[in-house]
Amino acid sequence: MGFTMGLNLLLLLAMVATNILSLYHLSSTLQTPKKPPTTAPLVPDHLIQQLHTIRATINQLTRLQPTTTSTTTTTKSTTPPDLLLHSRLSPIASSCHNHADLLHKYMTYTPYSLCPPDSDSIAESLILRGCHPLPRRRCFSRTPPKPTSSLPHNPFPSSLPDQNVLWSSKNYSCSSFSCLIRSNPKLGFDPSREIQRFTSYTNELDLPIPQLLQIANSANSALRLGLDIGGGTGTFAATMKLHNVTVVTTTMNLGAPYNEAVALRGLVPLHVPLQQRLPVFDGVLDLVRCGHAVNRWIPAAALEFLLFDADRVLRSGGYLWLDHFFSKSVDLDKVYGPLIGKLGYKKVKWATGSKADSKYGEVYLTALLQKPGSK
Ligand SMILES: *[C@@H]1O[C@H](CO)[C@@H](O)[C@H](O)[C@H]1NC(C)=O
Ligand SMILES: *[C@@H]1O[C@H](CO)[C@@H](O)[C@H](O)[C@H]1NC(C)=O
Repeated sequence: MGFTMGLNLLLLLAMVATNILSLYHLSSTLQTPKKPPTTAPLVPDHLIQQLHTIRATINQLTRLQPTTTSTTTTTKSTTPPDLLLHSRLSPIASSCHNHADLLHKYMTYTPYSLCPPDSDSIAESLILRGCHPLPRRRCFSRTPPKPTSSLPHNPFPSSLPDQNVLWSSKNYSCSSFSCLIRSNPKLGFDPSREIQRFTSYTNELDLPIPQLLQIANSANSALRLGLDIGGGTGTFAATMKLHNVTVVTTTMNLGAPYNEAVALRGLVPLHVPLQQRLPVFDGVLDLVRCGHAVNRWIPAAALEFLLFDADRVLRSGGYLWLDHFFSKSVDLDKVYGPLIGKLGYKKVKWATGSKADSKYGEVYLTALLQKPGSK
């Protein structure tokens, strides 16, 4: 009890500290600009005063770090040194600490003007490293010069408009959707090809959406709201939209504009990495799907957190769908099977099959699991 409370307090302190850190970065950029913009409004005195106080607090905290012990301070602080130790281990924004160089780069901008060109890729690098939420900034994000305003309402348009994506500032190998489709048709950027993906049945590992809806229907469990984890270009959400089910998609822009593609299909992209707590309240969703991104390459401990977070956001009677989860056969038996079992869900569907191109005896698992009522 005391330990849990202590830990909670510790985490709270760590969270406060990181928020203060964000402000600190903000203030340091404010006060040491290379060339202060002449148009920038003056910062009121009381704000400056507040920022000074925050910086003093941060200095105090930084002095407690074991790695920087060379300080000559006479005032001994009462903050336990483990605070910083734990903040580094905890999966909250404290990992910004470990990537101060990137964070500094991200926070180097001129207020009230255009954000630096590579802002969004730096932001994604930080998010992927667990530095999230990012501090807010006061610069204008870049937009494509000549976007089309006639956007499709159909989530399966014949093509996606290239001119609505900012290709130039990114590190992509392509600068058009047709190039992405040519380089790998399976990436999901060809909506007309994607329309088949969740409707066909080729083997037991498939769970076509009509069948999913029928399962839920016959269990008297309404499917209205869902979340697709690592959903690429949003094809699952797109197909569910045709059935009047609202699905949001978490997706990252790894090598291609996945977030923009989801949005161009009229769907909601959430720029959220796999290790982050889902930005959804407890017990509100009918369905969580884990697609290709959720697989054996995620460390087991991180996967366990992910599954328990999916459990958190699901309502009782809601469904967790592991779609083509792949792992070594032995790991499925020894690691992942028991891990999934910890949730105590009802196995509505549990199908395994060997992976066709497998070198190491890898298997696929497709599981549809239903969350029970409160224990
Ligand atoms: C861009 O790509 C190069 C090489 O592919 C890589 O070294 C660099 O870190 C990338 N930059 C960003 C901002 O992602
Ligand atoms: C979705 O909702 C619309 C409007 O209410 C309705 O016309 C349509 O039949 C519904 N489609 C399905 C698949 O339920």
